[in-house]
Amino acid sequence: MSRLGVVFGGSRGIGRAVAQLLAQRGHRVVVISRNQEAAQATADTLSGAEHVGLGCDISKEQEVQRAFDTITKTCGAVGYLVNAAGINRDALLMRCKSEDMVSVLHTNLLGSMLTCRAVLRSMLSNGGAIVNIGSVVGVKGNAGQSVYSASKAGLEGFTRSLAKEVASRNIRVNLVAPGLIRTDMTAGLKEEEYGKRIPLGRFGDPQEVAHAVLFLLESPYITGHVLLVDGGLQLTM
Ligand SMILES: NC(=O)c1ccc[n+]([C@@H]2O[C@H](COP(=O)([O-])OP(=O)(O)OC[C@H]3O[C@@H](n4cnc5c(N)ncnc54)[C@H](OP(=O)(O)O)[C@@H]3O)[C@@H](O)[C@H]2O)c1
Repeated sequence: MSRLGVVFGGSRGIGRAVAQLLAQRGHRVVVISRNQEAAQATADTLSGAEHVGLGCDISKEQEVQRAFDTITKTCGAVGYLVNAAGINRDALLMRCKSEDMVSVLHTNLLGSMLTCRAVLRSMLSNGGAIVNIGSVVGVKGNAGQSVYSASKAGLEGFTRSLAKEVASRNIRVNLVAPGLIRTDMTAGLKEEEYGKRIPLGRFGDPQEVAHAVLFLLESPYITGHVLLVDGGLQLTM
């Protein structure tokens, strides 16, 4: 059955791979990022018709509400929500600027809370599925990433709690925790060096994460689950 899928952070990287896979499976997709033109450009490349690109800063409550008002008015009820919008501002805690801490928490944690709260009304009558994108760093911790790790660990607790809260309405909430994936976010990291710490010996591709996201969106009896997609990195951290 074709559903409406909303992908925050869908213009690039992991979110774009999720949008592509959803479209390939025949779903209508709303691609969202701060840069509306980039979101629209990605929507235009998806297979099938009627995909939409919207501009919205996930960290801003009014923008998130406005995005969902537009979506429900013009596209109908949302079946799938994927929260792939995220940023990092990596530094040792002693060197972290307060404004960077706030940006990371507001985008990675508060942002997903805002989109989940906004989408629930749309999912109440027909059910739905949400996948939040966490990180192996949220599960294991990493020096130089304490704020980013806290944002992702918080997202894990949020995912499990919300899963309990909305299960009776047939809304499922899961989290995919990627390791090192080839996107703009990791463009500055040398794969030869970091790959040595990964049992599978390489970074992952965004499409490999997208498959895990789609699996959780489509699995009717899985909720509150954290799925690591990391080439085994968590085994060595
Ligand atoms: N790449 C990795 O190795 C890795 C590993 C673990 C977890 N993750 C997580 O996976 C998710 C996707 O990461 P990625 O590697 O695909 O990153 P990416 O290539 O940098 O893409 C990030 C996406 O999020 C959007 N975005 C950023 N801030 C936003 C905001 N405030 N409001 C709305 N959209 C926003 C970006 O578009 P705009 O800039 O136009 O807004 C872009 O579409 C993130 O949550 C990241 O923390 C990534």
